[in-house]
Amino acid sequence: MGLTFTYWLIKSSKEQKAMDIFASVLLSSSLLLFCFVFSDAADSITQSQSLKDIETTTLVSKDGGFVLGFFSPGNSTNRYLGIWYHKIPGKTVVWVANRANPITDLSGVLNVNSSGSLVLLGQNSTFAWSANQTKEARNLVVQLLDSGNLVLREENKENPENYLWQSFDYPSDTWLAGMKLGWDLRIGLDRRLTAWKSPDDPSPGELSWGFELHNYPEIVMKKGSKKLLRSGPWNGNFFSGMPELQATPLYNFTFVSNKSEVYFMFEMIKKSAITRAVLNQSQEQYQRYMWIENKEEWSKFLYLPKDKCDSYNLCGPFGNCITGEAPVCQCVEGFKHKSLETWNPEEWYKGCERSKKLSCQDKIGFDQFSGLKMPDTTHSLLNESMSLNECRVKCLSMCNCTAYSNSDTRNGGTGCAMWFGDLIDIRQMTANKQDANSQEVYIRMPDSGQVLKNKQKRRVIVIVVVAIAVVFGVLLIPYCIWKRKSLRDNMENNVMLDQNIEFQSEDIEVPFFSLATIVTATNNFSTDNKLGEGGFGLVYKGTLTDGHEIAVKRLSRSSIQGLNEFKNEVILIAKLQHRNLVRLLGYCIEGEEIMLIYEYMPNGSLDSFIFDKTRANVLDWSMRFNIICGIARGLLYLHEDSRLRIIHRDLKASNVLLDSKMNPKISDFGMARIFGGDQTEGNTDRVVGTYGYMAPEYAIDGLFSVKSDVYSFGILLLEILSGKKNRRSFHPSQGLNLVAHAWNLWKDGKPFELIDTCLEENCILLEFARCLRISFLCLQQHHEDRPNMSSVVMMLHGESSLPEAKEPTSLVGKKFSSSSKNQSPSTNEITVTLLEAR
Ligand SMILES: *[C@@H]1O[C@H](CO)[C@@H](O)[C@H](O)[C@H]1NC(C)=O
Ligand SMILES: *[C@@H]1O[C@H](CO)[C@@H](O)[C@H](O)[C@H]1NC(C)=O
Repeated sequence: MGLTFTYWLIKSSKEQKAMDIFASVLLSSSLLLFCFVFSDAADSITQSQSLKDIETTTLVSKDGGFVLGFFSPGNSTNRYLGIWYHKIPGKTVVWVANRANPITDLSGVLNVNSSGSLVLLGQNSTFAWSANQTKEARNLVVQLLDSGNLVLREENKENPENYLWQSFDYPSDTWLAGMKLGWDLRIGLDRRLTAWKSPDDPSPGELSWGFELHNYPEIVMKKGSKKLLRSGPWNGNFFSGMPELQATPLYNFTFVSNKSEVYFMFEMIKKSAITRAVLNQSQEQYQRYMWIENKEEWSKFLYLPKDKCDSYNLCGPFGNCITGEAPVCQCVEGFKHKSLETWNPEEWYKGCERSKKLSCQDKIGFDQFSGLKMPDTTHSLLNESMSLNECRVKCLSMCNCTAYSNSDTRNGGTGCAMWFGDLIDIRQMTANKQDANSQEVYIRMPDSGQVLKNKQKRRVIVIVVVAIAVVFGVLLIPYCIWKRKSLRDNMENNVMLDQNIEFQSEDIEVPFFSLATIVTATNNFSTDNKLGEGGFGLVYKGTLTDGHEIAVKRLSRSSIQGLNEFKNEVILIAKLQHRNLVRLLGYCIEGEEIMLIYEYMPNGSLDSFIFDKTRANVLDWSMRFNIICGIARGLLYLHEDSRLRIIHRDLKASNVLLDSKMNPKISDFGMARIFGGDQTEGNTDRVVGTYGYMAPEYAIDGLFSVKSDVYSFGILLLEILSGKKNRRSFHPSQGLNLVAHAWNLWKDGKPFELIDTCLEENCILLEFARCLRISFLCLQQHHEDRPNMSSVVMMLHGESSLPEAKEPTSLVGKKFSSSSKNQSPSTNEITVTLLEAR
């Protein structure tokens, strides 16, 4: 009985390696003592006590979050003293004392010696490690705090100011909440992360992450002395090149820079959430992880460098790295490539030079640039009390001053930063291009009037265009009026008059396809060619004789009200062209057949990916985010940018198609118009749409507007994020629908549990959280509370702040208050048409 019990204890401690040796020593003796010590771990020891590897004694923080004890990393048998998470299986070590000085057996002992120093003794009582404290003191206590900080203090002094030593001042590879990363300038202490050499060896590797103490400090990731990545300087709100390191709903960031300290620190808002940042040697990455409770695993939600343009100085002096352009290395305006002929990727580092040489005697000015990551601050000056104008004057007076800027973008911009010599490691920060907080940088240029300021240039173009338009318009209007009048006079049939005039005057023709062409292309509508069944008929794949692939939608004749109106609508809708809309190529009317011909989308519809366990893996986060943004832009075009104001009325995952590059294209837009509902907003007796995606006011009262599309977009967004359908019984035990489930998770501070499992690896949680909040805004019960699509697009790109959402609503799983007998909540997957809903 006693034996079994001990064995169980050993197992549960998960200290297998130590245990194998330990068990043989122990079984014969001190069984009871061991059990006592083990189960009653304290959070501190006093001067007379010690922590011994052989006894597997540990310290456990008061709240049980962290343990201090001896361990062997990976496949190594060496012993180290370290701190890890107590409740998280698999021993995630966050700090190691004797990193470079392993103890090779179980002889390790930690205590405070008679002279008042915290020491770790190894074989034959040699020093394996000691805390280099600055002050002498008496009555010492070593305590493991709830934050994971190991401190040495006098017995009755719990104030952080009085710590004689703390492990947070000597980080290993992990950055925890409450830990200052950076400098204490008063004592020359540099707290920086250094990666482990390997999973088996915690000794400091080459990779480090910390502050470079330039005049204008910034975080740099280095390999040895080589810079790999730079955060850019702090601009009051974030590091100019890494907006990722910003406060989020999960944690706050604090940046402090003054005469005595320069540091950066994060603190959890939700205390229960567990996150850590770690420097990863093998990946050469800074990674941030979060513990996902119900899945029992760490989820990586941020890593840096995130793309090519984060690589330090990829494009050389005055090069501007622009993600998504080819080549990614461009020159800052006013500069040209140094090696124009041999311009190839290997030579990017050569960078750019001035298009027009500049000497100290030349008349000079400054050009303003927006949305750039501030250049390397190695050769910079900072003066926080100078104004932008004083900054300019100062920079102007120094020949080698290349650029200047406000050092802090808050309060309309304050302070002065100046750069000298070449400007290094610039990139275009797309996300913050139009941000009001964007830091403008002014770069020295010859004052020849040759290089116009960006904004001026734009202004000149606008003025010229407007001037031409005005002149042209003055001449054109009388002509149009005359033309229109004569047309009107000649026209007998006044129906759809305005639209007809538009076509005739613009000569746009929508190809008419003969039935024979379609029959040949689709192999006489063979079932092999059937792509699916849309809300308005069957869809077939076809191949024209020239090899072009098409999709043919076969409508039912009975649902078309008038042939002329139908043609007009088709012609109108064919004119809607946007890269996120499926292109309507033509139509066919012959006998009983009415068909619409679209471009063919090889990857099919979005629902076949997100709701399919294996295919879902194809869509990683960046693809999903791209799809979300694409759908939003397509919808915005339908609502606001096209000449017709189109309300889709049936936006859903199966109506979003994917092209060969997985770009989303909305299909079936304008169907409501084709089917005779030609109002743009109002009230209809014919409710077209899909239960589950329908806004409450539309499903119940038949009221539709652009905001009912916004609602459907919100549902679609949730489905893309979660990989789940908005079904009636989403959560079997609670009968929740997807909307309520997502909202509950959000309210409980566990939004990331919603994430589709296949997303976790690469998900950028900031973007995820933003998308989730946007979906809640779109799903507001009252349509006036929902944003319009232009706001949604801006919010998706982080260009406008997100208002707080009230609880969202969904009809799925609720009782309909409609008197209709045609629908029942159980048929929520099919498209329902509610006739005479009220
Ligand atoms: C420790 O002492 C033993 C015996 O005194 C000796 O054989 C051994 O080499 C010593 N080990 C170290 C690491 O000094
Ligand atoms: C480094 O990253 C890889 C891949 O993401 C991961 O498997 C490994 O555990 C990481 N190492 C550390 C120390 O976090």
